[in-house]
Amino acid sequence: MFARELADGTVLMIEQEDHTDLSAQFAAHWGNNEFSRPEPYHSVLFGTIYHDSGHREMEADLPIDVERGVPYAIGRTPPGLRKNEADVINAKWIKTRDPYAALLVSMHHAGLRKERYDTVRKRADDGQAPVPQTQGIDSAFGDLADWQQEIVNELGLNDARARESFFHNYRLLQVFDLLSLYFCRDGFKKGEMQNVVLEQVPVKAGSDKVVDIRLDVTGPNALRMTPYPFDEPSLSVCMKTRVMAPVLDQPEAVAKEQYYKARRVPLICNITS
Ligand SMILES: [Fe+2]
Repeated sequence: MFARELADGTVLMIEQEDHTDLSAQFAAHWGNNEFSRPEPYHSVLFGTIYHDSGHREMEADLPIDVERGVPYAIGRTPPGLRKNEADVINAKWIKTRDPYAALLVSMHHAGLRKERYDTVRKRADDGQAPVPQTQGIDSAFGDLADWQQEIVNELGLNDARARESFFHNYRLLQVFDLLSLYFCRDGFKKGEMQNVVLEQVPVKAGSDKVVDIRLDVTGPNALRMTPYPFDEPSLSVCMKTRVMAPVLDQPEAVAKEQYYKARRVPLICNITS
């Protein structure tokens, strides 16, 4: 769950599976003459769609942050409410349908505790120097649990080339996640979209080349991405959000009811080159 306070005192709430649906729109359209499309396409897409479904365990309970008067969101959730074990259960559910996607998703969650293995990251466009890489593919593969290693063996991902190709897709998942998080959490200041830079974006599978992609705001619902990574000349994306007024000094059941009743508002952005 994400929560962004709006200027009029209401709060914009976004569920994890709406965040992942936006991530998946970027995944589905990623690739053109300059950037290679994810391969295996459907596995990367499937993993992206369900990469945060472990959060559903918490969101189904809908615990209320009584100080704020809305459901608990990322950054404020007390330990224990989040139910991290649900991430492993989710990855194992993904494995029943697509082992490659399961490995991708479980590596993603391990990487979240390790700065995404120092791969892709987002920074404000403030001229700061990039942070040096210290971790990477060896660290990511070194963290695999036994059940993940079994997938590596089954899919023949042991040799250097196959590992590199897989790690390319891991880095793409970080890009799709970070692009979506820009809209869910950190791309806005005082309600306005901000210019940012995505660093170390991989360009093609099998190549070491990485680029920084600039996101420049060109209008209230418009961004320019340079270089431009999508398969259509302009890409219009949309995410479901809920706008609710905080419910303070009332039983949690009242806040939950207001959340379920909240007005659904599509967040739309048109992205061009
Ligand atoms: Fe995510």
